[in-house]
Amino acid sequence: MTHFGPTGLVATLIPKIAQQWGTPVYLHDQEYIEKSCEQLLNMPNAYGLHVRYAMKANSDRTVLRVVTSKGLDLDCSSLDEAARAHAAGIPYSRMMLTTQEVPIGEERAELEEMIKAGLRYNVCSMLQYQLIADFAQKNRIDLSMRVHPGAAGGGESTTRDTGSEYSCFGVHLNDVPRVKALADQQGIRFTQVHVHIGSGGDPEKWRENIDRELGFVKTYFPDAVTVSFGGGLKVARMPGEKQADIAALGAYAKQRIEGFKEATGRELQMEIEPGTFVVANSGHIITRIIDKKLTNEMNFLIVDGGMELLTRPLLYGSEHPIAIVRQDGTLLSSEYDGKPTTGLKSFGIVGRCCESGDSVRLDGDGNIVPVLIVEPEIGDFVVIGGTGAYSESMSPENYNSHRKPGAVMKTRSGELVQIRKKQVREQLTQNELDVQL
Ligand SMILES: Cc1ncc(COP(=O)(O)O)c(C=O)c1O
Repeated sequence: MTHFGPTGLVATLIPKIAQQWGTPVYLHDQEYIEKSCEQLLNMPNAYGLHVRYAMKANSDRTVLRVVTSKGLDLDCSSLDEAARAHAAGIPYSRMMLTTQEVPIGEERAELEEMIKAGLRYNVCSMLQYQLIADFAQKNRIDLSMRVHPGAAGGGESTTRDTGSEYSCFGVHLNDVPRVKALADQQGIRFTQVHVHIGSGGDPEKWRENIDRELGFVKTYFPDAVTVSFGGGLKVARMPGEKQADIAALGAYAKQRIEGFKEATGRELQMEIEPGTFVVANSGHIITRIIDKKLTNEMNFLIVDGGMELLTRPLLYGSEHPIAIVRQDGTLLSSEYDGKPTTGLKSFGIVGRCCESGDSVRLDGDGNIVPVLIVEPEIGDFVVIGGTGAYSESMSPENYNSHRKPGAVMKTRSGELVQIRKKQVREQLTQNELDVQL
């Protein structure tokens, strides 16, 4: 067995990458990203489909370029994300901004420039509407509205649910008539309605959201020509997890949007904005075992990268598959391919941070959960899978002053290309001022 994981990663590449760029290091796979883009673009639909990549999942410029060159546009969650994507060469006309920020001061002027250049603004609160209304009216700009449906949607953890009464994203359904009445008075049109109920949830919740959303599009939004069902399409990171069936969800949406046409005469374009689905399983983190402790209670492997590279286990209790590769490139064991029954030993795999929860596998209470593997040696590699999304873009980097690692892309032709350098030490302190108090 020499290959593992959804990208078919060849074990002998691991020591090569480590030798060339050091560890820890992020690894991405262009072909995998492109194939997931294609799968999404082929989702069944009734009157057209528009796919945006939720760039918060991984905002690296090379990833953005791979995704946008396949035809996906972008969902941005801050002005800085939009500016960052623009700096990568992507026009504002290919972006929608869905943010908790309210446009005031300098940012407001920046936002206006972006909107004039074609960025779509997704109103997420009454205040956001009030602050943008005059500008939209004067410039005859149509808006989108993110609606908070008051119904739960996220998976694994409540921290990933953006639709329930405990989350505050979007204009709450109760407030929609008030915002709409103001917009009607000012002659401002909401041509798009958007709901994102959370990440990685049960596909059944995604279906329910389609019905609910089409219901309030019919009631409140006569001008809407696009309906966005958000992101949140589940991927299977661990063996045994069930991935969202894109074709089945698309077929359901198609049927409901066709039903909407029958009832109203209106043809709605469908929009989706997945992040996880595009990149999660394209990514691996390669770490090196730097120490080993065999205690009466638990065996530990200490690796050279943990929560500062991947915080999802600590934040959500998320599981990521582990492969163990020897320094000579032999694959010792891999959770991807089911567990061999003999010769396994349990190890808590921990990182370098002074933090008891710095581990790749934790239970819901934050206790370390041992992983069953073939016992490796110091210097061997622990490869963590499913880390293309919400890893380098989300982690508490620089904690314990560890430097953010570099990233490598395996290209479509199989070449390995460094896409981001490891931080240099000076970057840790570059914004600190030399003040003597
Ligand atoms: C508004 C919005 N859209 C899309 C996404 C992408 O979700 P996922 O990565 O689960 O597809 C998120 C994630 O938090 C989001 O907040």
